[in-house]
Formats: sequence, structure tokens, C-alpha cells
Amino acid sequence: QMDNSELAERVRQVKKQMGTRLFLPGHHYQKDEVIEYADSRGDSLQLAQISASQHEAEAIVFCGVHFMAETADILTRDDQKVYLPDMRAGCTMADMANFTQTEKAWEQLMADFGDTILPLTYVNSTAAIKAFVGKHGGATVTSSNAEKMIQWAFTQKERILFLPDQHLGRNTAYDLGISLNDMAVWDPINEELVYEGHLDDIKVILWKGHCSVHENFTVANVHQVREQYSEMRIIVHPECRREVVALSDDAGSTNHIIKTIEQAPPGSSWAVGTEMNLVNRIIQEHPDQHIISLNPNMCPCLTMNRIDLPHLAWSLESIAQGDPTNLIEVDKEIAIDAKKALDRMLARA
Ligand code: 13P
Ligand code: SF4
Repeated sequence: QMDNSELAERVRQVKKQMGTRLFLPGHHYQKDEVIEYADSRGDSLQLAQISASQHEAEAIVFCGVHFMAETADILTRDDQKVYLPDMRAGCTMADMANFTQTEKAWEQLMADFGDTILPLTYVNSTAAIKAFVGKHGGATVTSSNAEKMIQWAFTQKERILFLPDQHLGRNTAYDLGISLNDMAVWDPINEELVYEGHLDDIKVILWKGHCSVHENFTVANVHQVREQYSEMRIIVHPECRREVVALSDDAGSTNHIIKTIEQAPPGSSWAVGTEMNLVNRIIQEHPDQHIISLNPNMCPCLTMNRIDLPHLAWSLESIAQGDPTNLIEVDKEIAIDAKKALDRMLARA
């Protein structure tokens, strides 16, 4: 059993030894003990952009979850290798849409609506889903550009299929003025389209997926904060349910949340509805403001947390010793189509 200072020293050694041949991107939801060593930190959009512009690094050790490492692999050259310090760092949301389910849904939707649908997928999805979307003329989106990308999609087709997060899709479409009645939900388990309005009026088809972290912020949490702290502003991520976003003062991507609180005057008070490591970091970075988690249970992302200092040190050493572990390599054909979807986003992001 090694203590953290020893592990940290090993991480520093490998970073020093490899210099710019090694690059460590880190998502804002990563643990402090890991993000401390990231060369760049960002939300998913920034990390995709940063990966695409990494021309020097030969090894990219991704401090984030599996779909992010896949994206980095797709956006970098073949001779650049991407590693994930723990292969169990998946994403429950990404797992809610698989390729077979998506093909089934598409077949049914084509029967209902004909060739009038453009698929969009949140980057929080597997490379295979991105490839499906890219092949059908669609694009990826992140929480930072979902609005822009949905607007673009409607210049291409009459309807969109939004995978795999129903909440980001619903919240964004609602902000663009689309009525909830004109949105349907595709349930991949029962293979059926669920809607309340008229079939012909449907503009947005939402995949029935969600983030297990952000679904933990509830209307009851909002009421509790309103009762306890009348001055407090509530800011949440758009992966939260529609009702929660509707009752909040502001909603936006990880980057939007960070920036909004950074720009707030001293003495401001906030209840934040997003992942725990980030909320704790925001609290530490703004001692002049009163900041709490919207859900007192804090809501960690268990898979983000799988990347810890021991795994990071182990992964870096395996690379330094010339016997790297946990290579993330997306199948060539999938990567080609997935890149089309990513490029359509990056060209507009
Ligand atoms: P963003 O980084 O786009 O805000 O996404 C949040 C998230 O859930 C990442 O897994
Ligand atoms: Fe997936 Fe949610 Fe964790 Fe992001 S926070 S990696 S969407 S489970």
C-alpha cells in the first residue's frame, strides 16, 4: 500500500521524463487528486477541441470517462495513442443507447415519418452511436452547443432524433420554443414512441436515456432550498429533468456554471445542481460566496471517480516503461463515420 505522496511523486516523475510526448486532459468532474496533474481541464466540448489540436503528444492519458477517450482517439492521428487509467470508467448514460437499439428505432421512425429526421447525439455516447449519426448526415452536440446544433439540424430536416439524453434534448428544444406536445420519447426497451400530441406534429424525438448523477436533483431539492435560503440562486446542468430546470434560476453546461459563479459578486449565494467533485471545487475556489450542492447528498459520478491517483500512477508508469495498458482504440470504420459527426459539430462550435 503506497501513500498518496509517493504516488504523486511517481506521477510527477513520468510527466517530467516524457515532457510534451505525454498529454493529460482532465474533465471538470474528476477528483482533485487527479485533476491536479491534468495539463488541461475542460468540459466535454473543450476536451474534444483540445484533443483535436494535440499534434505533439504521442500518448494521451485521458482523465475522464470512456466515451471521452474514444472521442480523443477519433480526433487524433493513428500514431497518437489514447489510454484510460481505468477501463471501468464508463458512463451509465452512454450505455443507455446501443447500436442495435438505435437501428431498430431508426427503422420504426422511418416507417412513421419517412426520410424527415436528422439524428443528433450528445457526445456522451459510444463511438458506434456517433458513427450511426455521422452516417445519416447528423452531428454530435455537447451541453455547450446543443442549442446551436439543434438549430442547424432543423435547417437540414423537419425533425430530429436526439440521443441518448432525453433531458438535454428536451430542455434545449424547449428553450428554442418547441412545445412539449411536439416532442416524443423513444423507449428503447419497449421499442415504442411515447407522445401526447399528434404524431404529425412531432418535431423532436428524444431517446429515453438520462444521467444517473443529474437525475438525482429533484423538485423537492429546489423547494427545500427556496424555503431555507430565500436569497439563494439555483443553477443546474441541463442534464437535470425539465421540472427542475424550469424551477431553477439558470441552467447551462459545466463551463457555463463555472463562469457564471466566477463572475458573480462576493457575497452571492448559489445552490448548484451538478456533479460533486466540481461543486466541491467551486466551493473551495470561491470562499467569498456561499455555495452548496442543490442535493445535500452531493451526487458523485461513480464512473468518473474510478480514475484515482493509484490508477493514474499505474497507467503513466506502464507507458513510461514501454508496456502500456488500457489502450483505447476505436474500430477504423466506426471512427471514420463517428468523425463525420464530430467534425460537423467542431466546424460550428
Ligand atoms: P459537459 O462537460 O458537456 O457539461 O457534460 C457533463 C457531463 O456529464 C460529462 O460527463
Ligand atoms: Fe455519464 Fe452522467 Fe457521469 Fe457524465 S456525469 S459521465 S453523463 S453518468
